Amino acid sequence: MKIVTSASELPSGCAFIPTMGALHDGHANLFRAGGKLNGSVVASIFVNPLQFENEQDLKTYPRTPDRDIEIAAATGVTHLWLPRYEEIYPGNIELLSAGPIGDLFEGKSRPGHFDGVVTVVRRLFDLVKPQQAIFGEKDFQQLTLIRKVAGDVEIIAHPTVREADGLALSSRNVRLSESGRSAALVISRALFAASIETSLQSARKTLLETLAQESAFTVDYATIIDENEFTEAKIDTKSKRAIIAGWIDGVRLIDNMQMQNVVLP
Ligand code: PAF
Repeated sequence: MKIVTSASELPSGCAFIPTMGALHDGHANLFRAGGKLNGSVVASIFVNPLQFENEQDLKTYPRTPDRDIEIAAATGVTHLWLPRYEEIYPGNIELLSAGPIGDLFEGKSRPGHFDGVVTVVRRLFDLVKPQQAIFGEKDFQQLTLIRKVAGDVEIIAHPTVREADGLALSSRNVRLSESGRSAALVISRALFAASIETSLQSARKTLLETLAQESAFTVDYATIIDENEFTEAKIDTKSKRAIIAGWIDGVRLIDNMQMQNVVLP
């Protein structure tokens, strides 16, 4: 694996996986998926200040550079790009708007977050010029908004990677205490329980009632949406998805799951 600091050293037409570091098995799976696409696999590590609406969150965002290099090298990354701030933001970069969906759910709780995400992703794409880019479904709203600014880059969605007990992998999980980690299991438990319901009303009820069983989890939102519009799902909504966000130990956690069985009102 080659480690580069300038995009001019990257191969064109690659599969690209942008990250903010603190790599874990979820990223490793994205890198392996990139390796199956028959070309170079470029990963970037850039902690993008523009997408942090909260100074403290940016400061405490986990940084594990040595481990990141090991994980990338072991999982098929051919080029690891560690850009300098000035390469990404040379001073004349226009802040893109994520549009109306960017103000809902995650965007409502984190104003400006998605404008920062789409701005950096578009900038990264302009510098790397990848053929494909791979993103995890765990950040489903992010994935949806990135598709809107992707231009001719093919966006590949990778299913959420979970621990054996259901917890969705996230760089933020390392900030959970032992009891917090165990409390966090309520999120996937709620999603799995809702996903076997057949009516919209009972799925919503199960989602909320399961979450209410864990007092350590402070719910921000938990509902079932139309996954294309990010509006509350109605019975005739084709693609329904449950989305959850909240806090444990002051750590923000999100997760989501498709609700294929929900076909009744
Ligand atoms: O999901 C992430 O790690 C970040 O939001 C991304 C897509 C790398 C943009 O900074």
